[in-house]
Amino acid sequence: MKKVLVTGGLGYIGSHTVVALQNAGYEVVIIDNLSNTSIDVLEGITEITKTPPVFERLDLRIKSDVAAFFQKHNTLDGVIHFAASKAVGESVEKPLLYYENNINSLVYLLQECKAHNISNFIFSSSCTVYGEPDSLPINEEAPIKDATSPYGNTKQISEEIIRDVCHVSALKAIALRYFNPVGAHKTALIGELPVGVPQNLVPFITQTAAGIRKELSVFGADYNTPDGSCIRDYIHVVDLAEAHVKAVEKLIRAENTAKFSVFNVGTGQGNSVLEVVHAFEEVTGEKLNHTIVDRRPGDVVAVYADTKKANEELGWKAARDLKDALASAWAWEKKVRGL
Ligand code: WQD
Repeated sequence: MKKVLVTGGLGYIGSHTVVALQNAGYEVVIIDNLSNTSIDVLEGITEITKTPPVFERLDLRIKSDVAAFFQKHNTLDGVIHFAASKAVGESVEKPLLYYENNINSLVYLLQECKAHNISNFIFSSSCTVYGEPDSLPINEEAPIKDATSPYGNTKQISEEIIRDVCHVSALKAIALRYFNPVGAHKTALIGELPVGVPQNLVPFITQTAAGIRKELSVFGADYNTPDGSCIRDYIHVVDLAEAHVKAVEKLIRAENTAKFSVFNVGTGQGNSVLEVVHAFEEVTGEKLNHTIVDRRPGDVVAVYADTKKANEELGWKAARDLKDALASAWAWEKKVRGL
């Protein structure tokens, strides 16, 4: 049985990827420092797959701890690296926390992969690297724009570090550039657990519908888009998880055509904020309190994926749509709140 390490494996996307890996027959080892999640997620994964993954609480910023982990677990067929800080706004206020966590951790991880001849590496990247696209849908050849936040910069720098290591070592890597992950597993046993006030749209919507938030603020309806609100590519987190299984399989089978490749992982469909609000009301039957307010600084107007490369080279295509994702997000919210 092939064994894969998932760093940040108790996080939102990480936990869904662990489930997808186990369903695909992989043995999984999880590292997480629990800084942005709860150990209860391990129970949720186990309840879904009936297979408790190996879990080690570990902070990847501590070089000696990372080395000790790999002394114990060095017969790995692949590594999927999620563990990172990911709040755009927080990264602007605390850049050093982001550079230390997101860059140092990656370097220590790659050093151990090299020391133990672990050559298959999947990296959690983001469409943030594109900034405001020049044309849409956006493909992987689009220019990388100057980062608009330290968080986005850590994703760009990380891709460059991985690429450079691939060119001078046995490492093979794939960076998956996520668009906007939303939704939850159909069992509602795992899902998104934002700490504090949600920054992202869909968890704020579900918390508003659950009565936890008074109303959703729509950050601007005066953009140059059909209904004036920003457009994004909302991808179901289970589809996103399944893309990681396809990517790690490609490297393990040595079917990669390059040492380092990047893939856009989205649905290829753009939806505006107001379209998401209306879709949520339609799918759930809940009326959503929302009001239009000023624009949020740093928001790009519109971004959605050209998914041709992932469809053709990964053999992956999103199987779920926005309404599936919103229905699953609402089911998860109701489960968490006991509604
Ligand atoms: C989506 C749209 C907001 C909240 C960020 C990161 C990206 C990834 C996903 C980590 C925008 C609008 C939002 C609200 C709103 N993060 N909105 N009211 O900014 O596209 O992407 O999160 O990997 O890297 O950049 O996602 O969900 O914050 O915003 O109107 O209360 O919803 O203005 O147009 P975003 P988001």
